[in-house]
Amino acid sequence: MAKPQISYTCQSCGAHFTKWSGQCDSCGEWNTIVEEAPLSPGPGKALKGARGRKLALTDLSTKEAPPPRSASGMEELDRVLGGGLVPASAILVGGDPGIGKSTLLLQAAARFASNGLKTFYISGEEASAQVRLRAARLGLTDAPVQLATETSLRDIMTTLDEERPDLVVIDSIQTMWSDNVEAAPGSVSQVRATAQELTTFAKRRGAAVILVGHVTKEGQIAGPRVVEHMVDTVLYFEGERGHQFRILRSVKNRFGPADEIGVFEMTGGGLAEVTNPSALFLSERGKPAPGSVVFAGIEGTRPVLVEFQALVAPTPHSQPRRTVVGWDGGRLAMILAVLESRCGIPFTGLDVYLNVAGGLKVGEPAADLAVAAAILSAREDVALPADCVVFGEISLSGALRPVGQTENRLKEAAKLGFSSAIAPAGGKISGREGMSLREMADLTAVVGEVFGA
Ligand code: TYD
Ligand code: MG
Repeated sequence: MAKPQISYTCQSCGAHFTKWSGQCDSCGEWNTIVEEAPLSPGPGKALKGARGRKLALTDLSTKEAPPPRSASGMEELDRVLGGGLVPASAILVGGDPGIGKSTLLLQAAARFASNGLKTFYISGEEASAQVRLRAARLGLTDAPVQLATETSLRDIMTTLDEERPDLVVIDSIQTMWSDNVEAAPGSVSQVRATAQELTTFAKRRGAAVILVGHVTKEGQIAGPRVVEHMVDTVLYFEGERGHQFRILRSVKNRFGPADEIGVFEMTGGGLAEVTNPSALFLSERGKPAPGSVVFAGIEGTRPVLVEFQALVAPTPHSQPRRTVVGWDGGRLAMILAVLESRCGIPFTGLDVYLNVAGGLKVGEPAADLAVAAAILSAREDVALPADCVVFGEISLSGALRPVGQTENRLKEAAKLGFSSAIAPAGGKISGREGMSLREMADLTAVVGEVFGA
């Protein structure tokens, strides 16, 4: 028999190489490439004698209604899933260790089970006693969830094939191992093989399978990146460790909108849903202070108000600092450059710190103007009125560009007691929702008229 050819796989991004090297050419990570035996017996062999079956596309047309989704009753979760759980689908829930994935999924499993889904929760990380203890703490001891602690995929598949569950939670994919693959649990080939098997099970048996995956930066344990391509839906559970807020974000969803968020709060009794995140993100806001600006944003399908905080101070260092939490550092550099070259506001010798309150990560370019306003407010020591929200995109020329969903932003702001907004001119706005709107054409106008600089 021919010797199986050894391949080299990056544990961070899953790229294959024929030779080992110190740095991955694909993702640039160092020391992530390890030797791995291939999964299949080799090209040609497995397929010998197999025939492809022709399938006419007309076969795909069907008058049957799409399979019904199952709702958990946790509104924040159901919305992120696109309206509930779709049968025969695979979902990956990724996040840092300790962020609350097991807690969320145990609570979700209990809800789905109480709603009539035959639910299995398989933990490879904790002993049954530990999971039971957690369930007791969460008040879920009566939930009809089948609990198993197992890491052998063969045993799990045997049980699942017999039991035919509607929902299976695998916590976590990095602890599962298949005896077909000669590699340690958590390596890319194990993660890929076990995820593949479980995804196929979902499709074959019509079950929904939720895989938990830890994200680690070291690259020694496979990040769930390789799994992202296999599954239908990818959700990330994020949050700052020190904060009690947790955000479940859909980054890929074949059955619903991507970039939808669900907001939770970690309490002593598990995760509580936060149905009005704007109120929560603004709850710690005190009197209007220089550097604080409320951004009227959109997360997925929902408007969310968040506070941007900026601090601008003379630097003691030769190289001034630019520190950002919750927003893109590159975008901050761009806005500082526009303020310097288009509006003549210099930042040399000044440290700039920017923070999104509440631990939310904002990705919308519509936050540009709020960021610029927060920085200007901090630099000029001028506070914006307490009743004012800001949104708008900034182009490199310094012009302000209108953004989508203006009415929804204004409506949410009005609902939370705001009465004025600074926004780009030229947007087609049908309703102002009772807000007084200061429309600005470019950043220079904002600098002059709002901050008098
Ligand atoms: P966990 O769900 O174990 O995280 P993950 O599965 O993502 O690794 O959550 C761990 C943290 O959550 C832990 O620090 C304790 C905290 N926690 C609470 O604050 N309240 C609770 O009711 C529970 C169960 C956990
Ligand atoms: Mg866990």
